[in-house]
Amino acid sequence: MKTLIKNGHLLNPATKKDGKYDILLEDGIVAKIGKKIDEKTDKIIDADGKYVMPGFIDLHVHLREPGFEYKETIKTGALAAAKGGFTSVCPMPNTKPVMDNPEKIREFLKKAEADACVHVLPVGAVTMGQSGDILTDMKGMKAAGAVAVSEDGKSVMDTKVYYEGMKAAKEAGIPIFAHCEDRTLAGNGVMNLGKKSEELGLEGISNTVEDVIAARDILMAKEVGVKLHLCHCSTKDSVALVKLGKELGQDVTAEVCPHHFTMTDEEITEDDGRFKMNPPLRGKEDVEALKEGLKNGIMEVIATDHAPHGEEEKAQSMARAPFGIVGLETAFSLGVTELVEKGYLTKMQLVEKMSTNPAKVLGIEKGSIEEGKAADLVIADFDAIYAIDKETFVSKGKNTPFHGKEVKGRVLKTFVDGKIVYEY
Ligand code: DOR
Ligand code: ZN
Ligand code: ZN
Repeated sequence: MKTLIKNGHLLNPATKKDGKYDILLEDGIVAKIGKKIDEKTDKIIDADGKYVMPGFIDLHVHLREPGFEYKETIKTGALAAAKGGFTSVCPMPNTKPVMDNPEKIREFLKKAEADACVHVLPVGAVTMGQSGDILTDMKGMKAAGAVAVSEDGKSVMDTKVYYEGMKAAKEAGIPIFAHCEDRTLAGNGVMNLGKKSEELGLEGISNTVEDVIAARDILMAKEVGVKLHLCHCSTKDSVALVKLGKELGQDVTAEVCPHHFTMTDEEITEDDGRFKMNPPLRGKEDVEALKEGLKNGIMEVIATDHAPHGEEEKAQSMARAPFGIVGLETAFSLGVTELVEKGYLTKMQLVEKMSTNPAKVLGIEKGSIEEGKAADLVIADFDAIYAIDKETFVSKGKNTPFHGKEVKGRVLKTFVDGKIVYEY
């Protein structure tokens, strides 16, 4: 099978290609990139006026399978990923049961192989059942196909257990993805602590809840020498701490989620579950620091923390709704609207944060359109303007605070191993 993508503007950070190219895909591989390719092919796609980029890689999603299939399945989550331009996703282990041993990782991958239209790269737990005490077999999970370990959903609160966990991860040669939240400080908080939480009469979550654990994890990972990646950074001091870690020569990277760079807690209009996620929407200064951090390169990754939930469980007060919003189908357009259009990132830098850098964090041969490499790529229109409509989501989760928001940027086609898995 041969497909020719003609006249598209290639944006490929890894090779610094930034211009009009024709791209020939053959048998799942990028066979040729040239200024003008004229070959007889099975299919020709005219990408004139559109951009061709390496498929996005999401280091942080929740696919909910096994255990919470009413919220999402591997199949529906992968379809949502494809629609969002993502060709690889990393599902977190907080399923039921928790992904905490090599056998479960193998079973999961077998299911994903059958059900998912994008690559699924699972993350294993740090402790058995994510209960915070007994470490998992990280070497075994890595051999089974896990690409990272994480306790996402919570932090490993026992510092000694985490210290040993970091040592085990280093030994296994697997990165740690850290959800930074001090449970003892978080209490029953449901949104950012501030004027808005007071106004709505809801319990708040202070920045310190995140910052103290981010500091602990960065300093501890530095001593241990393990590769650390911070999940969903939401505070200005998280950015400062990542900067410090880098200055100290540590292998630390960090992600920012679209909702955290798009919206402040001040913009929460009512006490409704769709505004609830962990960490919460923060203040103006935090949002500005996150965008500056993305701009100056301290924050290297954009990840969604796609967290689908059922309609009813989210349609209630923040006091009772579960944490989390969906993100796969809105990430690219929020990146274009909030970062590219507002001058924080160039188009190329957006691609770097959504594809090239996530691949680097994982140390995988993806995130670049090059001859001889797998044809995982996305074609998008940076100029399309429309309103986000949750009813068009293919994810089972419709829980988003962005329904009705006008955005710029639309994914038109997604290719996984040369095959079209999404078409607008
Ligand atoms: O908002 C969140 N949702 N944050 C988390 O840490 C977990 C996630 C979930 O699993 O729903
Ligand atoms: Zn988390
Ligand atoms: Zn998460």
